Amino acid sequence: MTDQSSNQMWGGRFAAGPDAIMEAINASIGFDQRMAAQDIAGSRAHAAMLAATGVITDSDAQAIREGLLTVLSEIQNGEFQFSTALEDIHMNVEARLKEVIGEPAGRLHTGRSRNDQVATDFKLWVRDQFDAAVSGLLALIRALLAQAEAGADWVMPGFTHLQVAQPVTWGHHMMAYVEMFGRDLSRVRDARARMNESPLGAAALAGTSFPIDRQMTAEALGFDRPAANSLDAVSDRDFALEFLSTASICAVHLSRFAEELVIWSSAQFRFVTLSDRFSTGSSIMPQKKNPDAAELIRAKVGRIYGANTALMMVMKGLPLAYSKDMQEDKEQVFDAADNWMLALAAMEGMVKDMTANRESLAAAAGSGFSTATDLADWLVRVPGLPFRDAHHVTGSLVAMAESKGCDLPDLTLEDMQSVHADITDNVYSVLTVENSVNSRQSYGGTAPDQVRAQVKRWKALV
Ligand code: ARG
Repeated sequence: MTDQSSNQMWGGRFAAGPDAIMEAINASIGFDQRMAAQDIAGSRAHAAMLAATGVITDSDAQAIREGLLTVLSEIQNGEFQFSTALEDIHMNVEARLKEVIGEPAGRLHTGRSRNDQVATDFKLWVRDQFDAAVSGLLALIRALLAQAEAGADWVMPGFTHLQVAQPVTWGHHMMAYVEMFGRDLSRVRDARARMNESPLGAAALAGTSFPIDRQMTAEALGFDRPAANSLDAVSDRDFALEFLSTASICAVHLSRFAEELVIWSSAQFRFVTLSDRFSTGSSIMPQKKNPDAAELIRAKVGRIYGANTALMMVMKGLPLAYSKDMQEDKEQVFDAADNWMLALAAMEGMVKDMTANRESLAAAAGSGFSTATDLADWLVRVPGLPFRDAHHVTGSLVAMAESKGCDLPDLTLEDMQSVHADITDNVYSVLTVENSVNSRQSYGGTAPDQVRAQVKRWKALV
């Protein structure tokens, strides 16, 4: 009864096959073939459950489960002929299963629908990517910890408004990124725990009249439990949105760090030397060594956040339950995941390979009157000025140093006393950058001891 030109899966009520343009807009096989392994794992779990609950026979389930493994190896070996007419990975696999095992293949789709099937496959795929993100973030955090440990007491300028503010330590700056990527790690873990409910068995939208065991398939696929509402289960893409928003925030962090590396590796700064392995040259300017990997990481947030926005807009206003709009979820997530993982790996490689230029950092640390706050604090602590007055006196001393073209420690005691009579020789002890950073012992501060304590805490966690 099947008309060759209409779909073999649902052609029963159709007199004609689809227009070529319909086929082009409708098919997802061009991209959802990336979920082949997840699709087959889901189907194998479903078949085993159908047999266990007596919905199909053990021998049919056995044939289905083995046949699916054959199909999987064909796909993995590149022997599988994907067909656009068969629309998506689900129907491509099932049609091939029918060729391989014959009639029992037709029993696989009992008690389920492509709606719960695609939600299950996609969740399994996204879950793997959450796990890959955990590995990528852990590796990056470890690379940062190694940098922080090596340079816990290397001084450098700290900036606000990209103007020199106060001296900080290299280790402290590295640990700031450990905190940021640590929060990303925690967001990934939260989202992964929240998404781990199985949609399988929600069927088209209403559940099924077959006596299925959703607990069994959930367990077989590593889910914590079956999703509790079948309408929600087939139309929920929160897990993909959380993946993309988590990826977006992490990509913002990567972008900020990448920007610092671009600035720091410039001839004007020379704070770091990036390795040749993560730089490129110029075809015309022989002296150039460009931080291309950092620049590309800086840019990746564009497409990752773009994917987040795109899927938010796809999901906006969709009525329950499944709508074909949701097929537009996958390419965004695939592209964002690929680029997120790549950016994490590239950043890890760059951080591992880069060399902090200790002398340049130290030279810059004392520039820009970076110990002015230490001077103001001394005026409060020793002669007992109110902070506001101390701020004013220090401002005058900075102006004096600026007009003389020298740094604060180069002012003579007479110079200083001409601004405030109570200043003594003792003030010079607080004007060095080493003293400045060592004095910042408040919890989370830049003092090397504090940095080492945070490195130790993190090492125990990762
Ligand atoms: N290719 C579809 C998707 O990615 C699978 C689900 C199709 N379901 C349906 N009722 N047409 O969303």
